[in-house]
Amino acid sequence: MRLATPPGFATEVFLLEAPDRELLPEGPWTLVGDQALREAWLGAGMPEPPQALWVSVPEEDKNLRAILPWLEHWARAPFHRDLTVVALGGGVLSDLTGLAAALYLRGVAWQVWPTTLLAMADAALGGKTGADLEAGKNLVGAFHAPRRLVACTGFLASLPERHVENGRWELVKTALILGEMAWAEEMLQDGPVKFAWVERALAFKAGVVHRDPRESGERRLLNLGHTLGHALEAASGYQLLHGESVGLGLLGACLLAEEQDLKPFPAPLLVALAQRLAPLAPLVAPWSECLPLLARDKKARRAAEPVDATSVIEIFCILPRPGEPAIQRLLPPEIWESAHARMLSLLRQEFPRA
Ligand SMILES: NC(=O)c1ccc[n+]([C@@H]2O[C@H](COP(=O)([O-])OP(=O)(O)OC[C@H]3O[C@@H](n4cnc5c(N)ncnc54)[C@H](O)[C@@H]3O)[C@@H](O)[C@H]2O)c1
Repeated sequence: MRLATPPGFATEVFLLEAPDRELLPEGPWTLVGDQALREAWLGAGMPEPPQALWVSVPEEDKNLRAILPWLEHWARAPFHRDLTVVALGGGVLSDLTGLAAALYLRGVAWQVWPTTLLAMADAALGGKTGADLEAGKNLVGAFHAPRRLVACTGFLASLPERHVENGRWELVKTALILGEMAWAEEMLQDGPVKFAWVERALAFKAGVVHRDPRESGERRLLNLGHTLGHALEAASGYQLLHGESVGLGLLGACLLAEEQDLKPFPAPLLVALAQRLAPLAPLVAPWSECLPLLARDKKARRAAEPVDATSVIEIFCILPRPGEPAIQRLLPPEIWESAHARMLSLLRQEFPRA
């Protein structure tokens, strides 16, 4: 099924059960695939193009060193400007492959075939590609939209349960950006992830990205949960997965929004969030380790009117509101301290067994 996207949208989006070779590039192409998917890809009758690379890149190796051998490999082939690169894998692989495609010969076309729920629901759409620097996540990158996104849900059969749950958080994020509490609560219940949710999240993201491709305004809303989330992820030494960190960041953002005198959240929603996130409590770093990471946030900037010498930085904080779309506010990173403390105490409370 081809998803409806705004007219002129840079990426054609398909959501299918099994992969379809008809959707592969027509001209010269090559593949960077996660080696965990090789059997499933070939088993589904999909072709292996010339110079295909089957790789395994863990989150902690998502840096520029990972892509240099791919670029050298393409140049040795040699591939020319008419090349299309197909990325088959999760968000780490697609972010890196998209970046390599943006750099090779100053930019060749690419397609993305996401294979994790997180990548299907979020990472593969929107043209943000990137790699980490020692100082933080995704600090280098390029906006380079794939020509086509093909999400084949059949690939999720082999995805470990923790990674399925990881992807659920980017879906919950979408509901909270929209202020749709009933949808958020539905997704927080036990039960399988529904593909209608993925479809809705993709359609929403496509609209936002189309209106604000370079993240100068509305697109910042997609960072809901990511401000505190990225800090927690890095502070855990990447023991927390990206989606899990976003989940924690969502709870933190709800609490911060309340402290900013926005509407309070329904108690059942906060309990449902906390209950699902409670097993992650031991991986939540103390505030003293989060603060320096928050101050290094990509969205940080020098405050126009510093309150005092300690708050010279401001970051765009996305604040959700029940029943209404989230809003953005520029706030000093220190403001998160009490939301962090309240989040931890909620996570540590005793929940009745289901
Ligand atoms: N570009 C964006 O807009 C954007 C948005 C959100 C997240 N991201 C990035 O996405 C990354 C996280 O992506 P992720 O959660 O997909 O993790 P991941 O790419 O690390 O994949 C998770 C694990 O699952 C394996 N795997 C992938 N597909 C599989 C399958 N079908 N069956 C079995 N194993 C499979 C991978 O080898 C890996 O070990 C982060 O680096 C984050 O920064 C980017």
